[in-house]
Amino acid sequence: MRHQELIDKWELGDAVQLHLSQVNVPELAVQVARVLRPSDWLLLEGDLGAGKTTFVAQLAREMGAKQNATSPTFSLLNVIQLESSGSLVSRICHMDLYRVKRSQELQHLGLELEITQTSIAVIEWSENIEPEGWSEFFQVTRCKKPVRIPVIKIAHEENKDLRFYSLSWKSLNEFLFG
Ligand SMILES: Nc1ncnc2c1ncn2[C@@H]1O[C@H](COP(=O)(O)OP(=O)(O)O)[C@@H](O)[C@H]1O
Ligand SMILES: [Mg+2]
Repeated sequence: MRHQELIDKWELGDAVQLHLSQVNVPELAVQVARVLRPSDWLLLEGDLGAGKTTFVAQLAREMGAKQNATSPTFSLLNVIQLESSGSLVSRICHMDLYRVKRSQELQHLGLELEITQTSIAVIEWSENIEPEGWSEFFQVTRCKKPVRIPVIKIAHEENKDLRFYSLSWKSLNEFLFG
């Protein structure tokens, strides 16, 4: 099945899987950019070095970012402005929660201020925060809850030059209550 057909299936709610080498990541980014809408929260799951940030950088480029997306490992949150975007999304709030150990730390990021009606959030290591931590975060900050939660899980393959991408969806309930 061609990538575009797979992504169409994903958009309709099915989980789909594909293997990609790094040269094919831009093509996936184009297709995912087509599916994303304002108020989505895209979760990127996978071990260190799986290829999460590589994917975000490519996604940002495809969506019209003027600057290169760098890893928010230390800043925790990078806001990427999109310029020539063909979509309705004008900014990406890119987070890397690898270093966040307590959900309270989330409450000081100012995410609720950065998320506008035309933002999407893209989050690496969202699983570092327990579901109760996310619930508390939404209660305390009054951050707008995501409308849709697409998930891309990236895994290493034995063949080092390929990665395995699983695309699925989480419900808000699943995200907030486990
Ligand atoms: N589809 C892919 N196939 C092969 N190598 C990849 C792929 N995607 C990313 N990489 C490589 O994996 C390494 C780690 O990527 P990175 O995006 O920093 O991982 P993460 O953010 O998940 O820790 C980089 O050297 C990158 O070039
Ligand atoms: Mg990363």
